[in-house]
Amino acid sequence: MRIPLVDLGAQQAEIDAEVRAGLDEVFAKTAFVGGPAVGRFEAAYATAMDVAHVVGVANGTDALELALRAVGVTAGGEVILPTNTFIATAEAVSRIGAVPVLVDVDPVNLLIDPDAVRAALTPRTQAIVPVHLFGQVAPVEVLLKLAADAGVPLVEDAAQSQGARRNGQFAGSFGLAAGTSFYPGKNLGAAGDAGAVTTNDADVARTVRVLAAHGSAHKYDHELIGMNSRLDTVQAVVLEVKLKRLAGWNDRRRAAAAYYGELLAGVDGVRIPVSAEGNEDVWHLYVVQVEDRDRVLQSLNDAGIGAGIHYPTPVHLTGAYASLGQGVGAFPVAEAAAGRILSLPLYPHLTREQQERVVEVLAAAVRQRGASS
Ligand SMILES: Cc1ncc(COP(=O)(O)O)c(C=O)c1O
Repeated sequence: MRIPLVDLGAQQAEIDAEVRAGLDEVFAKTAFVGGPAVGRFEAAYATAMDVAHVVGVANGTDALELALRAVGVTAGGEVILPTNTFIATAEAVSRIGAVPVLVDVDPVNLLIDPDAVRAALTPRTQAIVPVHLFGQVAPVEVLLKLAADAGVPLVEDAAQSQGARRNGQFAGSFGLAAGTSFYPGKNLGAAGDAGAVTTNDADVARTVRVLAAHGSAHKYDHELIGMNSRLDTVQAVVLEVKLKRLAGWNDRRRAAAAYYGELLAGVDGVRIPVSAEGNEDVWHLYVVQVEDRDRVLQSLNDAGIGAGIHYPTPVHLTGAYASLGQGVGAFPVAEAAAGRILSLPLYPHLTREQQERVVEVLAAAVRQRGASS
């Protein structure tokens, strides 16, 4: 039985006819840029995530850059973010010419550590960026307080957390703005690259919209130096259809995570992820921790199971950010976790039988170490 890390096929089969009908309409009308589906999706996503404004853009990295620029991050400013994230969070900061100030993570959930944020604040700090990694929600209330006390905005990286809630409120609606990604494998994924900025602030929404359209609100009237970052109409069609199913698919992810929890409860040597109190996480990734991870990963891959690592290298140890001068030892929690984390297959259409097989192979691989050590 081959079990991929992510299986988009079943999802596609569920939506295929509806998407094709929508695409036929786009092609018939040749409404490729800014077609009606874009506005419809933005409105529907705003309702679904309970935010006042959604601006669809070309991808999640642009969404973060645009959100940061719109809240006032400028070249030379500092932006605090966790080193345990996908590199795009840092790239968005660097592309503005601002400086990513990396901090360590909490050892339990591997999300940004508020104490580390407090220690990293300086008069040059212009924003704090929690990343709602793996579909968990970061401890926003502590971070919002820190941000307010420092007089800087919180900008959430909600790329992995569509539909996740903390104390009933959606990820991506806590800060002054948030960026999300609709990369195909995300909980809400397009048929290519896409992203969005969410915000409750009308001025921020307007600035993002202007920046994303060559700095203009009206054709050929360029008030800012912007960029071209639009949400394709084709992607909006796909997203509109999938959004209707997001809550149900997230429920299925939660059920699958709970079943992994049950199956792994009796397996020594596998640390399972646990939701923080108040969180309704959406399990974009199901990340366990094991000793001797590379060998365990190899055993899973050899058995046809598409387990993975998110992410093998904390941002500060990537070549891209070597210039920050933070080598091995700078962020011990994230570094230790990078050697232990293992993402198991998790998607809405994963079957219990597939999960049982994953756990069977995982348990055998972990036991093998126990026997040999
Ligand atoms: C945490 C995080 N931030 C940012 C991004 C960037 O999104 P995109 O790939 O759509 O540019 C991603 C996804 O790839 C992500 O997982």
